[in-house]
Amino acid sequence: MSLQSIKYSAGKLEILDQLLLPVQSKYVAVKGVEDGWKVINKMQVRGAPAIAIVGCLSLAVEIFPETYESKKTLRQEIEGKLNYLVSARPTAVNMKIAADELISLANELTKDESVNVEEMKQKFLDITEAMLQKDISDNKAIGANGAKAVLESAAKDGPVRVLTHCNTGSLATAGYGTALGVVRKLHELKKLEHVYCTETRPYNQGARLTAYELVHDKLPATLVLDSMVAALLRAKNVAAVVVGADRVAANGDTANKIGTYQIAVVAKHHGVPFFVAAPLTSIDLQIPSGDHIIIEERPDREMTHVGEHRIAAPGINCWNPAFDVTPASLITGIITERGVFKPQQLKEEISALLDL
Ligand code: MRU
Repeated sequence: MSLQSIKYSAGKLEILDQLLLPVQSKYVAVKGVEDGWKVINKMQVRGAPAIAIVGCLSLAVEIFPETYESKKTLRQEIEGKLNYLVSARPTAVNMKIAADELISLANELTKDESVNVEEMKQKFLDITEAMLQKDISDNKAIGANGAKAVLESAAKDGPVRVLTHCNTGSLATAGYGTALGVVRKLHELKKLEHVYCTETRPYNQGARLTAYELVHDKLPATLVLDSMVAALLRAKNVAAVVVGADRVAANGDTANKIGTYQIAVVAKHHGVPFFVAAPLTSIDLQIPSGDHIIIEERPDREMTHVGEHRIAAPGINCWNPAFDVTPASLITGIITERGVFKPQQLKEEISALLDL
């Protein structure tokens, strides 16, 4: 049984509460946009693709039982609620891209006189529901492209050791995962000697979620602390680092989970290729560089406490950015469902591919 972070059927949405993992496996109902905003903001569901899918599906379940007096009313509902969902977390771009696409679809359908209000609603539901399957097939393609790129870049033949950060697997997506999809594909090809995952303080996506997925899938894996990466790359003959992305700027600068940047610096020092694996919906060609990415800062409590237990001295100030930006110069390749791109050629090649 593969892990499922999102369960959806027409009019019904549930998410696996990631605040409770790995101790408890419990699904919570998302009954509409207000619930959707809250589960994203509280990080009961997290990971850039999963945020976008849950956000859009929360709107789908809200409009499913409703009838609308006009297409204009439905369009206003779609636009207002999607823009609200974008505000739940600012760094990952996937929700914003999905919102913009759905709003422009709603605008087109409002103008199209051959479509009535019920058909417009159904079209919105169909396209939103299709996000689940598309995300899984994109992840499978990312896995295949990424495994090939990692093996080509490795200085040796045969199974490789890789390092990953944060959680980019089934729990962060509709299934299979992005960077963890690359790891899964290497394993399927019998080319994974070992995967190391970082604990990823302070939310511990690595220790709680990635480790959970790796144990669940019986992959050869070891957990390391964030502070061990330099020692690991020196000692363990790691062939490549593969991480996910929350937003890739047009020049290839990449925002991802806090700690990614220092891993990239250490990888460069050790001559270890550093790959970013992400769907095209994580690429934001609207911003020229990582300087334009808003970095979410989260409550001090995530640093000062582990669960209910205080670990930091009372009264100490905290700085808790949830993401950092890795400069393009440290990135070997950006693995997408449509191929692997050098950061420097990203804008040109993706624009050509998408006919922009
Ligand atoms: O704060 P999170 O847990 O939402 O951050 C997740 C990450 O940074 C992931 O690496 C990224 O979203 C890619 S998930 C496929």
